Amino acid sequence: MCGIVGYVGNGSSVEVLLGGLKRLEYRGYDSAGIAVLDPRGELAVRKHAGKLGILVDELDAVPLSDGPTGIGHTRWATHGGPTDANAHPHLGDDGRLALIHNGIIENFAELREALLAEHPDTVFTSETDTEVAAHLVGNAYRASGDLTEALREVVQTLHGAFTLLVMHKDLPGVVVGARRNSPLVIGLGEGENFLGSDVAAFIEHTRNAMAIGQDQIVTITPDTVTVIDFDGNPVAPEAFTVEWDASAADKGGWSSFMAKEVTEGPDAIANTLLGRVVDGEVRVPELEVLDDELATIERIVLIGCGTAAYSGLLGKYAIERWARVPVEVELSHEFRYRDPVLNDRTLVVSISQSGETMDTLMAVKYATAEGARTVSICNTQGATIARESDAVVYTHAGPEIAVASTKAFHAQVTALYLLGLHLARVRGTLAADEAAELIAELSGLPEKLASVLEAHDSIRELAHWMTDARSVLFLGRHVGYPIALEGALKLKELAYIHAEGFAAGELKHGPIALIEPGQPVFVIVPSPRAEDSLHAKVVSNIQEIRARGARVLAIAEQGDAAVLPYADVVIPIPLATTMFEPLLAITPLHLFAMELASAKGLDVDQPRNLAKSVTVE
Ligand code: F6R
Repeated sequence: MCGIVGYVGNGSSVEVLLGGLKRLEYRGYDSAGIAVLDPRGELAVRKHAGKLGILVDELDAVPLSDGPTGIGHTRWATHGGPTDANAHPHLGDDGRLALIHNGIIENFAELREALLAEHPDTVFTSETDTEVAAHLVGNAYRASGDLTEALREVVQTLHGAFTLLVMHKDLPGVVVGARRNSPLVIGLGEGENFLGSDVAAFIEHTRNAMAIGQDQIVTITPDTVTVIDFDGNPVAPEAFTVEWDASAADKGGWSSFMAKEVTEGPDAIANTLLGRVVDGEVRVPELEVLDDELATIERIVLIGCGTAAYSGLLGKYAIERWARVPVEVELSHEFRYRDPVLNDRTLVVSISQSGETMDTLMAVKYATAEGARTVSICNTQGATIARESDAVVYTHAGPEIAVASTKAFHAQVTALYLLGLHLARVRGTLAADEAAELIAELSGLPEKLASVLEAHDSIRELAHWMTDARSVLFLGRHVGYPIALEGALKLKELAYIHAEGFAAGELKHGPIALIEPGQPVFVIVPSPRAEDSLHAKVVSNIQEIRARGARVLAIAEQGDAAVLPYADVVIPIPLATTMFEPLLAITPLHLFAMELASAKGLDVDQPRNLAKSVTVE
């Protein structure tokens, strides 16, 4: 939530900042703003409610005199609505200092009261929690004349989560940043340096990056980068090279990032498997440091939010089946607040595309404090959750820009399956030939998934017929159940249609009362040929809803004759072992939600009220 970019160097800061904000807009799009030091040494600020495009148009119409120092912000509103006044940057030191913020300053009201008691003439122009920090840093700078020290002094008084960037009129070529529980990375250029909420902010300019740790402060000039902790001790930041380049974060000719990312599902699976299957065995090198513990753990808890939590539900089926360890799945925000029983025989596995979701980060910290071992499944290099965990298994889905998670889901489920197979090998719970068959089938899934994408045109047509739907239900059983939940989430999120996913077996315990003539119901039908198939039971469920007038939209194995007589529409998927069916069945539902939203004229990349990276609780 909220994207942040900072620049010092020799180029046009307006261009760099707007380019960075464009790539960060997925983090929030309620308002956008920039501050730059112009050639006369004046601090110029432009900010606007609404999407970045409004600010860009304004800057095109009335350009700013540019200079090589600046900060930029794209907002997801927390304190104060999405108005021009609440947009960042905010000003301190009588308009000589500009500050931007991602996160929430929980004690802003007390700080504001104390500030007004000491400086009653302070003028607040917004309803944000951020503005108080701008005034505090401004006052501290006025007293000490040292911007880094001023920021260090102020962050000691802040409670909550924050990334802050500041610049001052007196200091051309200097931007200072601080972070606690919110992301911030450094980009290293030639005679120019960058700060960003994530590497997308500067990927057009450099792939050389450094991660800033928890409770650290960074000062950049065009030629130097200095990092200290909140106590003032020097810190050597960890350098890394970004694995992808700017083209990976472009639409590449697609109508939306989501359209592009859905089609990247097969690559997300293949790249996540890469280097982790050796001589027909699953070996996840990042997990090997924990192998002794993995052999003896008594319980696994998978935590995540939204789509990531649904991938966890699939992980539970696979890990319990293959590695015979009890697995629980819990939403990160529920887990942390219910005093869960944890010990050093519990493995807590967090799942997060961004690696910055605050609820999940806090749950990981809680688990560590309670003595559990932690592994993160994460798609973003150097992300906070990855750094807070004992081990990290990176998913290699590439950058996911659309707010709705699609290819990351495929990569997360693949990583969980790898975890299950790795655990099964370490614990000796799966016969070698059975493991080999699973691994071979998993490796062939990208090709099968590519064939599912061929149904895109017919799914678009289906979506166009259904633009008037007011409610859509989703039914699935066993591994089809998480798919029903995920399909419903996407439809709510993108098309703003009421949607609910149910376990098909639960139907008779209540939800069947919702069925009335014409009610559209997606049903995820297991393969009739897969082992232990629940096909017959799901076909009975279809008959039950059909008898009550439901419009049945089945996702079923190609050629499943038992479904044909009862389904209004069948979307075929190739045959797969039960455990792998969900990776094929979800894509038609992702496409359906996307196409229905597009047919309604909605923005599929940036649905209302949402942001990609939920960095506040
Ligand atoms: C839904 C969606 C969200 C995220 C959730 C977790 O399409 O994108 O439900 O899955 O906010 O985000 P990460 O994976 O970044 O922790």
